[in-house]
Amino acid sequence: MEKGKKIYEGKAKILYETDSPDYLIQYFKDDATAFNAAKKGTINQKGVVNNKISTKIFEFLETKGIPTHFEKMLNDRDMLVKKVTIFPLEVIIRNVAAGSLSKILNIPEGTKLACPVLEFCYKADSLNDPMINEYHIRALGLATEEELETVKKYTFQINELMKKFFAAIGVDLIDFKIEFGKFKGKIILADEISPDTCRLWEKETGRKLDKDRFRRDLGGIEEAYQEILSRVTK
Ligand code: TMP
Ligand code: ASP
Repeated sequence: MEKGKKIYEGKAKILYETDSPDYLIQYFKDDATAFNAAKKGTINQKGVVNNKISTKIFEFLETKGIPTHFEKMLNDRDMLVKKVTIFPLEVIIRNVAAGSLSKILNIPEGTKLACPVLEFCYKADSLNDPMINEYHIRALGLATEEELETVKKYTFQINELMKKFFAAIGVDLIDFKIEFGKFKGKIILADEISPDTCRLWEKETGRKLDKDRFRRDLGGIEEAYQEILSRVTK
């Protein structure tokens, strides 16, 4: 596949056209941002590592029947993906309290939640991606009732699958954010799944192996991402 015109540049990735109208190339950058880009930096080799980790997770989810935009990894930083119309929604699942949930509800980080918590945020940088609920989504026409049902069904399935996937490599899946799009009328998982978009804590020690090391200046960020990569590719 030939890399064509750049059609979108986000904080961590760039999308390029290909010679097919149905496919795009998703390029993974080393750039890292936090707090709606108030904090900026780079994480050495992050693009390469996240491309590889995302590839592994998408391949795993596909084998379990979850449709994704993933086609194949083209090289270290390029992933061939289906061209979806993305829903402007961040879909978050939490298994353990951390981050913004801990802050908003004053629940200590690490508190296990009695059941997974599903949240939606509206993808709108100018508004700081505010949390919204299903009524907002329907009222604003961001997705239909039927689409929402499918998104929720896949999200809970993905959570169960990923919890097991990470548990098998000694990692607790604390929470994560995913995005969905539509391709030829079908809803499929899009974007990426990586230590940028998940909280991943080493089971034995509770050590953070994700982007919180960057957000909170904990150090050892490259090593943490490499650790996840080496475990998922073992
Ligand atoms: P939060 O606790 O900051 O709301 O984050 C919840 C999860 O979502 C965490 O795994 C990080 C991920 N996330 C993103 O991938 N992108 C974002 O813009 C935000 C705010 C969170
Ligand atoms: N991706 C988000 C941003 O730049 C934040 C995050 O992951 O914490 O701001």
